[in-house]
Parts: sequence; C-alpha cells; structure tokens
Amino acid sequence: MKHEEHSIQRWISQSRDRVDLWVRFINSKGIQKMVEVGVYRGDFAERILKDCPSIRKYYMLDPWRHLSDWNKPANQKDDVFESFLKETLKKTDFAQDKRIILRGKTTEVIDDIANDELDFAYIDGDHTLRGISIDLLSIYPKIKPGGWIGGDDFHNTIWQHSSSFEPTMVFPYAVYFAEAMNVPIYALPYGQFLIEKDPEKSFSFKDTTGKYQNFTLQKEFLPRKYWQVKLTSGRKRGTKILSKIRQLLF
Ligand SMILES: C[S@@+](CC[C@H](N)C(=O)[O-])C[C@H]1O[C@@H](n2cnc3c(N)ncnc32)[C@H](O)[C@@H]1O
Repeated sequence: MKHEEHSIQRWISQSRDRVDLWVRFINSKGIQKMVEVGVYRGDFAERILKDCPSIRKYYMLDPWRHLSDWNKPANQKDDVFESFLKETLKKTDFAQDKRIILRGKTTEVIDDIANDELDFAYIDGDHTLRGISIDLLSIYPKIKPGGWIGGDDFHNTIWQHSSSFEPTMVFPYAVYFAEAMNVPIYALPYGQFLIEKDPEKSFSFKDTTGKYQNFTLQKEFLPRKYWQVKLTSGRKRGTKILSKIRQLLF
C-alpha cells in the first residue's frame, strides 16, 4: 500500500465518528487555512476549531437565509437561520481571530477567497446535483496544489431523503469531477469523501468502505426502486401525520 493510503487507513481506523475523522485528518496534515461550506448551527466548526491547533484561518461560508430554490430538509425560515448564525457565532467566539464569516451562497461569496489560498475545503452545503457541481467547480481553484477537498453526504443512493425532496448527488458527481480533474478520490466511512489535488497524481477511486461498487444512475430510476422510495416516503409521512393527530388529541 502506498504511503498516503496507509496514513488514510490509519486515521480511519482510529476515528469514532464523522467529526473525529476530520479532526484526525486535519491534525495529521497540519491544515492551516480552510473553508467550511454549509455551517448551519456551527457544531462542526466548533469542534474543528477546538481540536485542531494548526488552523490559522477558518472561513465559514453559509447564506443563513431561506433559499426558495433549495428543496432539502435543512432549509429553514429566515428567522430560524438568523438564530443559527447567532448560535454559530457564540459557539466559535473563542476563535474570533481565526474565523471569517462569508454570509452568502457559494456563488455569491467565493471570490472573497483567493486562488490557491486554502489547504482544505469541507463541502457540506447544497448536496443536490446543482449544489455539488457549483461547489466543487468554484472551490477547486481556491485549493493550493497538494491540498484537499473533503465533503459530507456521499451516499450510495441518490434517494437520501423522501421522494418529495431533490435527490442527493454528491455520489457519483464527486467521482466524475475527480476523473475530469485527473486526481485521486477516496470514499471514506460516515458518508464522507476526500479529493487529493495533487498534480503529480492521476485519477483513481479508492473505496475504503466497499459500499460504492456501482457508479451508474440508471439503477436509481428503475421502477422497482422508484416505488420503493415512494412507499417508504409515504409511510414516513403517514407516521408523522398520525403522531401530530395523537399530539392534538392527547
Ligand atoms: C447540512 S447543513 C451543514 C451542517 C454543518 N456542516 C455541520 O456539520 O454542522 C447545510 C447548510 O448548507 C447551507 N447551504 C445551502 N445552500 C447553500 C449554498 N448554495 N451555498 C452555501 N451554503 C449553502 C445551508 O444554509 C445549511 O446551513
């Protein structure tokens, strides 16, 4: 096994959960400048800033506002997002000198980061096909050669949420993107991915989980799969309606 793969396997085997995995990664690479795309209530930012002493600059990029064209369960009303921003600021106040707030969608604020400035980007914003393609294409030039892009919601099905939401396409799009840029990509546990922006290397897909054998989308639209998703969504909606009725009655 090559040196890089060996070190990745080591911090994977030691990790307890998603955030712990990234803490170990950031510490092992000595990451100094990074962006988190999609910050929400600031839980990830708080842990990383607390547990990763090498970080000098941490961009927090999020619109913290309702997005009428983002059909995902994390979308909230404006006032809720306003309180999430306050919560994030409070949780990360201890690292005021390191954090930089970029309030806006990726397309609105990405130019505030210089090209080749970052060692690492963590993409956890809009996971639809539109979102992940905009994020990867916008962030890639911001990463210095030898740097990294990681991200969340890399699932082996596009039907992460019920059929009333837009599908999640981080997988397989991130793999296609790495192939287009001719760089390695790793599938990690906890639904995470990692792209290595190393101009000396070429495309390879290393699946450390054994879950991502099939890159095709056709299987996701087979009638059997579609009805399975519809029925599960219907059952979940039914259960929610029943529990609301129960709450009203009792
Ligand atoms: C799943 S949450 C992020 C969770 C956070 N990274 C954590 O681990 O605690 C997704 C966030 O993405 C943000 N988002 C949605 N569309 C976006 C876009 N186009 N650009 C940047 N952020 C976006 C939302 O406002 C939301 O706060």
